[in-house]
Amino acid sequence: MKNFFLFLVVINLQAKKVLIIGGGGREHALAWKIAQSPQVEKVFVAPGNAGTLYEQKTRNVVIDVNDFDGLTSFAQENNIDLTIIGPEVPLANGIVDVFKKQNLDCVGPCKKAAQLEASKDFAKAFMVRHNIPTAKYKTFTNAEDAKDYARLQKIPLVIKADGLAAGKGVVIAQTLKEAEQAIEQMLVQKKFGHASQKIVIEEFLEGNELSFIVLTDGKTIVPLVSSQDHKRLLDGNKGPNTGGMGAISPAPIMTRQLHDRIMQEIIEPTIAGMAQEGCEYTGFLYAGLMITKEGDPKVLEFNCRLGDPETQVIMMRLQSDLYDLCDAVYKKQLQNIKPQWSLQPAVGVVLASGGYPQQYKKGYLIDGLTLKSPDDCRIFHAGTVSKDDTILTNGGRVMCVCAGGDNLDCARELVYKRINKINWPDMFCRADIGL
Ligand code: AMP
Ligand code: GLY
Repeated sequence: MKNFFLFLVVINLQAKKVLIIGGGGREHALAWKIAQSPQVEKVFVAPGNAGTLYEQKTRNVVIDVNDFDGLTSFAQENNIDLTIIGPEVPLANGIVDVFKKQNLDCVGPCKKAAQLEASKDFAKAFMVRHNIPTAKYKTFTNAEDAKDYARLQKIPLVIKADGLAAGKGVVIAQTLKEAEQAIEQMLVQKKFGHASQKIVIEEFLEGNELSFIVLTDGKTIVPLVSSQDHKRLLDGNKGPNTGGMGAISPAPIMTRQLHDRIMQEIIEPTIAGMAQEGCEYTGFLYAGLMITKEGDPKVLEFNCRLGDPETQVIMMRLQSDLYDLCDAVYKKQLQNIKPQWSLQPAVGVVLASGGYPQQYKKGYLIDGLTLKSPDDCRIFHAGTVSKDDTILTNGGRVMCVCAGGDNLDCARELVYKRINKINWPDMFCRADIGL
């Protein structure tokens, strides 16, 4: 009898149910990775995409990422053990506060802490208070004052909407006229609504960009492997900014010394400073950094979540159990966890719809997905939808093809070989990721 109960306990320990909130490539990569955990029985993704629909142990659920009542009811009715929140909007709207009130284990910062991403003005003032290196700045709500200030600054000049603007709220003005136009559009024409009632004008920083993401339970900080996003639309880092057209991990400029400086000068004071100010930060924290010509790391932005497409290449390299890692956050036991990473670099290339990041069409049939990918290659879906056993495009960034390899060239070759077999009428991608 005793053995029977022990058996039940063991079975129960191994039958974890996970809910992942979001429907992009980041969430597909998280679902794929956490489903590999022997403890995990089932992964639900709300709302997911055509990629998560076909992943093992995984099921999509039709609940909007901002329907907190729907999500908490689902989590309670289905005995969800752990929820991971992918996108910034529900985090900024306080999803973690709502989950915690119901004693539901979840990974992400509370509403107050998510301000690090949701308000650039909050983040900048916080960095100044805590001596965290970042570009010089000033905040404005009045357009004439902002223009007067802009006239006295060096060009290029960076104009940022204070609030969340789906990655479109940053203008790098190459002339004073462009700066004035951006100020006018944001503050007067309210281009981003409430999000641009306030703007931050900041000094243009030159150097190499790096994404540095950590997981923290508020006390212990576990850095993930570094990565580099490719935000510009076109090869050679030309064209407009996008959500990210590809990523590599590790970031080529990363060194042990730089890693230690980023932890000491940026990440540790941020987590400590938030706690000191009564906004304990838990969950993933993404620091978008510029490494200047002098080699100094400075913060461009904070995100209160994992990056997309950075997560896809980071998950390709994670060898430890993602469930253990995430579960330790809520339980505040991260000090016991040391994730293992593959030494092989990973490359991810985003396949996008013609017209992205502006207008694009949806609903094209995607060819070439049923072919088997090599073992080291994965396709993470983003803007896709399944219809009558076919998969159709359903967004601007449609998928991210990823691979690991002995070196960047090997990984690159695998990725582009696989991409050559995928097609829809207006598909495009950058050809220089990982070069
Ligand atoms: P953000 O959303 O703040 O990360 O800005 C988007 C992109 O704009 C960044 O990834 C950088 O490429 C660029 N950017 C933002 N702030 C600056 C800055 N102060 N200097 C130079 N580039 C910047
Ligand atoms: N790849 C940039 C971001 O996730 O914000």
